[in-house]
Amino acid sequence: MGLHGRPASFETRFALLRMTKSVDCKIGRHGEERPSGPPDQVRGSNHARDISIAMLALALAACTPAPKPAPTPEQAALLKPADARLAELYETSCKACHTITQSGAPMVHDQAAWAPRLKQGMPVLVDHSIQGFNAMPAGGQCATCTPADFEGLIRFMADQEGSAG
Ligand code: HEC
Repeated sequence: MGLHGRPASFETRFALLRMTKSVDCKIGRHGEERPSGPPDQVRGSNHARDISIAMLALALAACTPAPKPAPTPEQAALLKPADARLAELYETSCKACHTITQSGAPMVHDQAAWAPRLKQGMPVLVDHSIQGFNAMPAGGQCATCTPADFEGLIRFMADQEGSAG
């Protein structure tokens, strides 16, 4: 029966076709420049993704100002109020504890440490400065500080200098 021959001849032709095709492909590959499209597109999309992530980060930073990191003890030691009188009062009182992490005092310009304290409201903070609060001594070792001075010193330490609220 010729049934056995047919598939064989089909297969042979198919095999020949595949061979010529693969030869064509090889020639094609040698003849052409290396395709540069796909890798560039991949790189391009990575760039686009990086940029959109960066823009998202910027947008988020603009919406919710992240608290500045707390100053190092070295940085904290160099900070002082802009106002000359407050600077002098600060240097001779608050600074002794509020630049030393181990004192348990909220560190000067450590926004994260001051944020929950500020929530109590300025009158409470001034009152705690005058009356004392736990390890915080009454008057903060400042005999000549007025309530307005305490407020100014607290604003400075909480990094709120110049803000009216
Ligand atoms: C002898 C160390 C010391 C000195 C000096 C000092 N403080 Fe403090 N202060 C502390 C400590 C410790 C705390 C934390 C108390 C707590 O939360 O238990 C504190 C906390 C505070 C608070 C937060 C109170 C609250 O209700 O959360 C304010 C405000 C403050 N101090 C203001 C001042 C001011 C203003 C001066 C300078 C005039 C000053 N401190 C000087 C040790 C000191």
